[in-house]
Amino acid sequence: MPITNLSLLFKPFILSLFLSLSCLLFLASNSPLHRKTKFNQTQTQLSSDLRIRPGYSSYDAYIEHQLNKTLNPKLRQVWKTRDWDRKVRVFAKFFESFKQRNLLFNESKALSIGARVGQEVAALKRVGVSDSVGMDLVPRPPLVVKGDFHAQPFENGTFDFEFSNVFDHALYPWKFVGEIERTLKPGGICVLHVALSRQTDQYSANDLFSVKPLVELFKVSELVEVRRVDGFGLDTEVVFRKKKVNN
Ligand SMILES: C[S@@+](CC[C@H](N)C(=O)[O-])C[C@H]1O[C@@H](n2cnc3c(N)ncnc32)[C@H](O)[C@@H]1O
Repeated sequence: MPITNLSLLFKPFILSLFLSLSCLLFLASNSPLHRKTKFNQTQTQLSSDLRIRPGYSSYDAYIEHQLNKTLNPKLRQVWKTRDWDRKVRVFAKFFESFKQRNLLFNESKALSIGARVGQEVAALKRVGVSDSVGMDLVPRPPLVVKGDFHAQPFENGTFDFEFSNVFDHALYPWKFVGEIERTLKPGGICVLHVALSRQTDQYSANDLFSVKPLVELFKVSELVEVRRVDGFGLDTEVVFRKKKVNN
């Protein structure tokens, strides 16, 4: 067979080999195994004041661990009865203080991230913020909708105000913060309650030792305030405002 015919025969073969290899490489780079590598790479870029806890073999294992507690029927019963009023009262005090500081208004559209059975949402409504909703892995209608804070189920620029006391549960803190910044309106407020002076419980996925990593993670927001609080084992309140114009 002449050489020109041979090369004509091989061209499609080489092209399809190249395409298959590209597909394989793409799939491999998105496999859970590789996700772990990417995750470690990002960890090395984080400030040493924020440490991701090792030990989760996969994202599904992390979610399963979180659900273990949240779905516990006995605990859910306690949260909905004995715990309910006490927690709503404490949250309502915090939300009142946000209103006094002009961070939250009756007209605000508000989200509470990791709201479990919805005490935070009941508190928001109690202080007059009627357009408020919670989000958690487990829904509890009508107060709490189902959602993963690493990929919030809301459109860009939905909320005026977001509150969360579950930053320590984020396996990917940069996604947790990125999603807040995505779903906040320009000028919107985010308040986080975090623990800096002690490690949180066995369900935490990261440990935070200063406010510095938060300031680094909030890319399109400015730090408004940091103050000490006493909020269910969390000692520090950090307030960010999303910038009106990204620059
Ligand atoms: C310590 S509890 C806090 C509950 C509530 N904020 C309170 O103070 O009563 C942590 C909550 O975060 C939720 N959570 C954990 N990982 C989550 C995720 N990836 N997306 C959404 N919620 C998550 C859990 O289901 C749990 O309800």
